[in-house]
Amino acid sequence: MKASLVTLPGDGIGPEIVAQAKRVLEQVARKFHHEFSFEEHLMGGIAIDETGEPLPEATLAACRKSDAVLLGAVGGPKWDDPKAKTRPEKGLLAIRKGLGLFANLRPVRTYPDLIGASPLKEDRIRGVDLLVVRELTGGLYFGKQYREQTPEQGERAVDTLEYTEAEVHRVVKLACELARGRRKLVTSVDKANVLESSRLWRQVATRVHADYQELTLEHQLVDSCAMRLVTHPGSFDVIVTENMFGDILSDEAAVLTGSLGMLPSASLGQGRLGLYEPIHGSAPDIAGKGVANPLATILSAALLLRHSLGLEQEAVAVETAVDQALASGVRTRDLGGTADTQTMGDAVLKQL
Ligand code: IPM
Ligand code: MG
Repeated sequence: MKASLVTLPGDGIGPEIVAQAKRVLEQVARKFHHEFSFEEHLMGGIAIDETGEPLPEATLAACRKSDAVLLGAVGGPKWDDPKAKTRPEKGLLAIRKGLGLFANLRPVRTYPDLIGASPLKEDRIRGVDLLVVRELTGGLYFGKQYREQTPEQGERAVDTLEYTEAEVHRVVKLACELARGRRKLVTSVDKANVLESSRLWRQVATRVHADYQELTLEHQLVDSCAMRLVTHPGSFDVIVTENMFGDILSDEAAVLTGSLGMLPSASLGQGRLGLYEPIHGSAPDIAGKGVANPLATILSAALLLRHSLGLEQEAVAVETAVDQALASGVRTRDLGGTADTQTMGDAVLKQL
C-alpha cells in the first residue's frame, strides 16, 4: 500500500528517537512491499523559535492531508517561562483538537526481560497487560478558563468540566471495540459520587455497553482505581475515562512496568488518521547525546501501522522485533545497559 506519513520530531531527544522509528518504518516498507513517503514538519518549542507558534498552520495542514503522524516529544526548560506568550504543550492540545483525536490509547504490558525494573513486587506485576483509553478533547482541558478579580478575595481562577453524551459515547464505544479483541473487560472510571459529568459518563457507558453483551463493564471511582492500579494491576484489561483522570491514571499505569522508555501511545479520532508518540517526554538532560531509548517511538510506529494503516501483520512484526532485540541482551542506559540510540535501533532492524 501507499501511505503518506508526517513526522514531527519536536524537541529534546525527539529528533533522535524519531529517526530510529523512521528507519524501522522504511524497513517495513521494503520487507512488505509498501510505499511510505515521509514529510517532516515543525512542532513544539522548535516551532515557537522558528514561527512563534507551537503548532504552525502549515504543520496542521500537512497532518490533515496525511495518513498518520509520528511525533517525538515537545517541550524543554528553554520554553518553560510561565510568563511566555505560548508554550510547546499548547501545540499538543491544538493538534489533538485540530485533528479530532478524541481517544488516547496507552497500552501497558510487562516485558518478562525487564520485570526487575518495576517499582512493584514481581508477583504483582507479572502478566500485566492493560490498555488505558483516555478521552482527549473534552473535560477540564477544553472547558471555559478564565480569571477575574473579586472585590475581597483576590483573584478567582475558573476551569470548567463539561461533557456531552456524544463525546462520552464515542470514546466508550471505541474502548468496547478494543476490548472485543482483548480479554473483554472494560473498567469505566469516573467520580460519580461527586461530579455531575461523571454521572452522565456512567449512564452513557452503561448504554453503550448494552450493544456489547460479550463484554463485562464495571464502573469504578477514580480514587479507588488509582489504588487498584498499584495493588492489583493484573486485574485490568481496558480502562476508559475522562481526560484529566486519564492523564493522571495513565502516568501511574506507565510506571508499573518500570520502563517508561518502552511505552507507546496512539491518539485516534473518527477516521483512520492518528497521532503516535512515545509516552516519555523530551528528556532535555540527555538530548543530543544519542543515548535515548528509541523503543517507545518504534512501538508507537507499530501502533501507527496497526491503527492508521490497518497493517496488523507488519505491526506484530515490529513488536516481535523489539521483543527479540531485548531478548538478545541489547539495552539502552535507562534499561540498565550501555547501548546508544543507534545501536538499539540497529538491534531492532536486525530482527526485522
Ligand atoms: C500527556 C501530557 C500532556 C497532557 C501535557 C504535556 C499537556 O501530560 O500527553 O499526557 O496533559 O495531556
Ligand atoms: Mg500526561
